[in-house]
Amino acid sequence: MTKLTQQAAWAQLEAQTKQLPHMRALFNADPKRFDKMALSACGLLLDYSKNRADEQTLNLLFDLAKTAGLSEKIRAMFNGEIINNTEKRAVLHTALRANADEVILVDGVNIVPEVKQTQAKMAKFVQAVTSGKWKGYTGKAITDIVSIGIGGSFLGPKIVTQALRPYWNPALKCHFVANVDATSLCEKLRLVDPETTLFVMSSKSFGTQETLTNTLSAKAWFLENGGAQADIAKHFVAVTSNVAKATEFGMDADNIFPMWDWVGGRYSLWSAIGLPIALLIGMDNFNELLAGAKAMDKHFVEAPLESNMPVIMGLFSLLYGNFYQAQSHVVLTYDHYLRGLPAYFQQLDMESNGKSVTLNGDKVDHSTGPVIWGGEGTNGQHAYHQLLHQGTALIPADFILPLQSHNPLGEHHVQLASNCIGQTQALMQGRTFDEALAELEGSSLSQDEKALIAKHKVMEGNKPSNTLLMNKLTPETLGALIALYEHRTFVQGALWDINSFDQWGVELGKTLGNDVLARLQSQQEATALDASSNALINLYRRSTI
Ligand code: F6P
Repeated sequence: MTKLTQQAAWAQLEAQTKQLPHMRALFNADPKRFDKMALSACGLLLDYSKNRADEQTLNLLFDLAKTAGLSEKIRAMFNGEIINNTEKRAVLHTALRANADEVILVDGVNIVPEVKQTQAKMAKFVQAVTSGKWKGYTGKAITDIVSIGIGGSFLGPKIVTQALRPYWNPALKCHFVANVDATSLCEKLRLVDPETTLFVMSSKSFGTQETLTNTLSAKAWFLENGGAQADIAKHFVAVTSNVAKATEFGMDADNIFPMWDWVGGRYSLWSAIGLPIALLIGMDNFNELLAGAKAMDKHFVEAPLESNMPVIMGLFSLLYGNFYQAQSHVVLTYDHYLRGLPAYFQQLDMESNGKSVTLNGDKVDHSTGPVIWGGEGTNGQHAYHQLLHQGTALIPADFILPLQSHNPLGEHHVQLASNCIGQTQALMQGRTFDEALAELEGSSLSQDEKALIAKHKVMEGNKPSNTLLMNKLTPETLGALIALYEHRTFVQGALWDINSFDQWGVELGKTLGNDVLARLQSQQEATALDASSNALINLYRRSTI
């Protein structure tokens, strides 16, 4: 297959993007631009009209996708082909959203029955805990969940429960511990009572240092505060693909919820890793979350590239990274419940597409995944939006806005919406020198002063954004939204011909971290490493003597 950068569409895009008019002009020239560049699917509306693109740009992007075999690559993922070539694994988080009658084969075995069995086990457990049938060691019902896990075993459950706060069972609270910094665990343990607390230990590998250390400390705390060894099974459950290691660790076999190596950590909230979510919002709502994601899967597989939401979003991200040298992408959620979503998308995208070699190991000759960052609107408008509007870097933005609030109060929501739409407009149209000067017309400044201020007020505009609307934030719309970003990430990785499903980069840090740990705990002065690392290790050692 021809390399991406050698495709005809690539060269054409390089030329075409250089002569594309300002977005203001594109809007002025075509009053139907929104109608042509907006799309509804799975309860979401995507307005992509405020992007640097005309019909020709879009056609070239779709050509690029076709020549790169995007549709075939999408089918390969859904069919369970071994697309994670370095770990020799299928990539089937989509199977976690499958209907019971689907057949999805891994090594010739249909995996759907196993998925459904685990979901049934989750449903039974959720029912037992939320009905009060599941009792702690003194016979009291569970009131607090402490979820211990990191990376995908933390961000998915944390961000989804946060987003679905209106759906919580009022009798339960959930606390998340990820960092190995003891402060994280100690602060949470101060809030809970061992008699009524359930610890959910989530680790796909069951080998992650932070999670093992936090679980051992939580267990010690439980035993020191009234619990006995025989009570552990009433207060500790685990979610893992390494059932043998969890059993060896002392987890009761009945309390282990399995997952599988064909589910990547950052794609795992749909598996039993989502147990804290299901406990908080109930299994019916958890199933709605799955149904929303399933609807997006269907759209992704079936819709033509030209009207395919994840494809369009993925292509725009590629456009800005590869043709406009954009190095970051901002996600701006105009909903307080969605304030954590940028951090979730950050792991999803950066751990997936932060790669420098193609599938066959060749160095890529174009940029790959951008820095993903963001936060909630309107807070960001009073902080980093200045750089979006007038900084020198081009930062494409996604604005996410539910049309209805879960907390309708006076004019709050209409003001929130007006800020969201106003920001997309300001980014797109900017402000010319003449407009800035005209705004200063009635002031007492001299002509020179006015000209100076006007120069500072000029905003180039032409800053791209997508706007995603949904009627209301529900488990179903959230499921669709998260699956949209999963597939958007896939689209970029597929076009760049990289492996979006491994993460070798984090492994070196883990290995060196363990080596440093041994040196920090050693009686000997550190001398074998570089001068900086030796000095830092020795400073730490001396401080603890
Ligand atoms: O640090 C990388 C990573 O492997 C993530 O991909 C993963 O989500 C996280 O660590 C936690 O891993 P585990 O669930 O195996 O504890």
